[in-house]
Amino acid sequence: MSDIKCIGIATGGGDAPGLNAVIRAATKAAILSHGWKVIGIPDGFDGLIWPEKAFELTLEKVSGILPRGGTILGTTNRGDPFHYKSVVHGHQVTRDISGQVIANAHKLGIDAIISIGGDGSQKIAYALFQKGMKIVGVPKTIDNDLSATEVTFGFDTALHTVTDALDKIHTTAASHHRVMVVEVMGRDCGWIALEAGIAGGAHVILIPEIPFTVAHVCKLIAAREKQGKYFTIIVVAEGVKLPPELKENRRTDSVANLIGNAIAHGSGKEVRISVLGHIQRGGTPSPFDRILATRFGVAAVDLIAAGGFGMMVAVHGDSVVSVDIAHAIGHLKSVNPNGEVVRTARAIGIGFGD
Ligand code: F6P
Repeated sequence: MSDIKCIGIATGGGDAPGLNAVIRAATKAAILSHGWKVIGIPDGFDGLIWPEKAFELTLEKVSGILPRGGTILGTTNRGDPFHYKSVVHGHQVTRDISGQVIANAHKLGIDAIISIGGDGSQKIAYALFQKGMKIVGVPKTIDNDLSATEVTFGFDTALHTVTDALDKIHTTAASHHRVMVVEVMGRDCGWIALEAGIAGGAHVILIPEIPFTVAHVCKLIAAREKQGKYFTIIVVAEGVKLPPELKENRRTDSVANLIGNAIAHGSGKEVRISVLGHIQRGGTPSPFDRILATRFGVAAVDLIAAGGFGMMVAVHGDSVVSVDIAHAIGHLKSVNPNGEVVRTARAIGIGFGD
């Protein structure tokens, strides 16, 4: 029998479609299945620095949030109570205020916390767990690059957004006989570029896991022209490894611009750039993401009830399971350059610029 009476929920790191679905599911399961009180912690663990900002999540409060993008709790990808930055007498200082954060959680009556976030947030959650806070994790990233779970919510919605953009870019590219370079998210791994590239009929996909050269991309464009295809769609992940000649300006320009300019120079074609940016993180979650987020929210509550602190929910095959946060953090799930999905893309003529 669990001695939990009240739980807190926090969302940290970049937002992802489906966060509200997790909050709603966890709140409903906590209230309806266990009779627990639920506290919403605003802006990640920052919300525990100012406990007066926390508020109760009731059934009414979570009503209607299922289809909403973003997070009703707010989030930050800067907050870290172990390295809290503030300005004292005009100087920036970094302090460890984790003890205060834990004390404030207890002051609010919170017995356990559900930390919904990516790798960075789970690292903080695990450190708080090691200091005695009862915490369970829910993984989140639109990049789908956490190795501990086969899939994260938000990824499917991002694929829909990028695929829709590629469908639209296709018609204008074909009409103008242009090369279109479309930059998508994927700081470390190329999952969005790879899967949306396949779904959206891209001709070239450039990802961090496969080094490319501009010369190879231009060859592909020329080969398409020979076949009477006068337009080319290139999807590039923002984290792509640039060839040495383009690296220098990475900080000042988007990778799409750098690559696009080099391709215009190398191919003689007219090139246009689209950087999709944060529209990939917004919008209403897809049915797949709503279902996964709901399963995660309920599983996180189950984990608390079972005393599985220091654990994170994850998808393995058909099931939602729990894994040790300690083993889950810091391990990225990269695209396998020789894996089945890349081979599928190559088999239908998609180039990777290698
Ligand atoms: O969630 C990861 C991610 O989507 C990356 O692909 C991207 O680099 C990053 O978020 C951007 O986050 P922000 O603009 O919030 O710093």
